[in-house]
Amino acid sequence: MTLHEIAATLMTDGKGILAADESTGTCEKRFSALGIPCTEDTRRAYREMLFTTPGVEEFLSGIILYDETIRQSASDGTPFPDVLAAKNILVGIKVDQGLKDDPAFPDGKVTAGLDGLAERLQEYKSLAAVFAKWRVVVKVGEETGNVALAENSRRLVKYAQICHEKGFVPIIEPELLMDGPHTAAQAEDALVETLAIVFDEFAKSTVDLKGVILKTSMAVTGSENPLRAEAKEVAERTVRALKTSVPENLAGVVFLSGGQSPEEATANLNAMARLEPLPWPLSFSFARALQGPALAAWKGADENIPEAQAALLKRLSLTVAADVAGYTAEMGASA
Ligand code: 13P
Repeated sequence: MTLHEIAATLMTDGKGILAADESTGTCEKRFSALGIPCTEDTRRAYREMLFTTPGVEEFLSGIILYDETIRQSASDGTPFPDVLAAKNILVGIKVDQGLKDDPAFPDGKVTAGLDGLAERLQEYKSLAAVFAKWRVVVKVGEETGNVALAENSRRLVKYAQICHEKGFVPIIEPELLMDGPHTAAQAEDALVETLAIVFDEFAKSTVDLKGVILKTSMAVTGSENPLRAEAKEVAERTVRALKTSVPENLAGVVFLSGGQSPEEATANLNAMARLEPLPWPLSFSFARALQGPALAAWKGADENIPEAQAALLKRLSLTVAADVAGYTAEMGASA
């Protein structure tokens, strides 16, 4: 597949991307909150439960894996990339190596992972991966004059260039953290500025944006602010920010859920879909808003697999309905 074909397949109407690329540390956090032991095998069993859910392929164009996961297999011995290939789900891989403190960029975290990236992508290609993800974080209120963000943007461009050289579609993810007391209006301003800084850096490069997907936050109220903006407001603010700062020739825009409840993320996505057509196709690439109910139902026990898979399928069907503006809160309650 060409880069454009991979990107277009990922952005297929009525399908989205499941982020299942939690690092071991993030998995530990999610599992321990529910009292689930976090070992290589429980992580494997959990991912097997997700990936083998009958029918996920109706809703998913791609799944993003973590380095450990792409090397693991289902209990019948089938490697996970083959499990996904059999369902026509494209294999993605998280390639950044996390957030680091660096005295040269004192006002934020910088994302590491460029060292040896070309070689790692070469290996991931042999494991059937065709797209990649790199995450950067930005705190609302700290984006102005952010030297860390400028450095992160340069690294995002470098990452995208290396991905293209190796035949991978890069997902670039400058995540605006939901932590804090900010309003949705402040989140919108931060989104405008963050995306402008990132895409200014791309404008200086020759990266073909038709082979790049943006993964972005929505302009939501901060988690410490009880006066939460409604879906319509979030959607208008988010879409306005995207129109201001995102070039029209990008392959697509997908949203992260960022700590929103599944219901909130779904309602917000639905409100955005109502504002289409936009210059780019919109879709979702949630982790928590898709996995949360399934993980809570699974609890680490085999006997809970059917219930956990049903919970995943329910969230997927509601999220896909939202992606085509066909979701209502009642569907969530009754499904
Ligand atoms: P959330 O949807 O839980 O924010 O995760 C998306 C993701 O890929 C974070 O990097």
